[in-house]
Amino acid sequence: MNYGARHVAIIMDGNGRWAAAQGEPRVVGHRAGMEALRRIVRAAPSLGVEYLSVYAFSTENWKRPAEEVAALMDLLVEYLRSETDELDREHVRMLFIGERTALPPVCQEEMERAVRRTAGNTGLKLVIAMNYGGRDEIVRAVRRMIKGELDAGRVDEDVVGAYLDTAGIPDPDLVIRASGEMRLSNYMLWQTAYAEIYVAPQYWPDFDGDVLRQALEAFSQRERRFGGLG
Ligand code: FPP
Repeated sequence: MNYGARHVAIIMDGNGRWAAAQGEPRVVGHRAGMEALRRIVRAAPSLGVEYLSVYAFSTENWKRPAEEVAALMDLLVEYLRSETDELDREHVRMLFIGERTALPPVCQEEMERAVRRTAGNTGLKLVIAMNYGGRDEIVRAVRRMIKGELDAGRVDEDVVGAYLDTAGIPDPDLVIRASGEMRLSNYMLWQTAYAEIYVAPQYWPDFDGDVLRQALEAFSQRERRFGGLG
């Protein structure tokens, strides 16, 4: 079934509250969140999704306790090591956005490996946002534009888009945020200008293909006018 959302961007929120609700430490919630990610990646292609972007670690998440930050980095490595072969077989192409050089070297190596391994795939594009912040992305883009001595008169929206981490990726049609929170939290600030937003009440670890389908059904009922009259 195709609901017309080519690019779905997800804010995977509520891992900590999910864990607390079961009397478990937060990292148990993040591990359950990784399982939810596996489910959603499997469900997305049959729902017509071509690009799936997930917010795994924000530029603000460094403020969390060191053990939680380390656990999230370890989970990324575990996810990539355990999942890349299977995703490759399923023709998934893996991409990353965010500032990579601040990440532990082992994360950077596994990210590089996943990107290289899946570079030729033409199925679902899985975009993992790691040490990503929308403002940071824009600042890095502006720095590169100035360094390249780009002529001011040549700068337009397409040029800015080409300097962002998401260059070549269409803007999200739908942003889904888990756990009932109604914020963008610095996710794809430029790219979400005309995205529809769907807030799901479920904590991220409780997400599955049914929740994704409900979000897409709601999306398909929306009238998108892009500032015009429709
Ligand atoms: C937000 O929930 C979630 C995160 C900051 C991390 C997202 C990470 C995963 C889903 C698992 C790991 C997957 C990879 C690929 C690294 P929160 O901790 O802010 O939850 P809370 O608001 O309930 O505290």
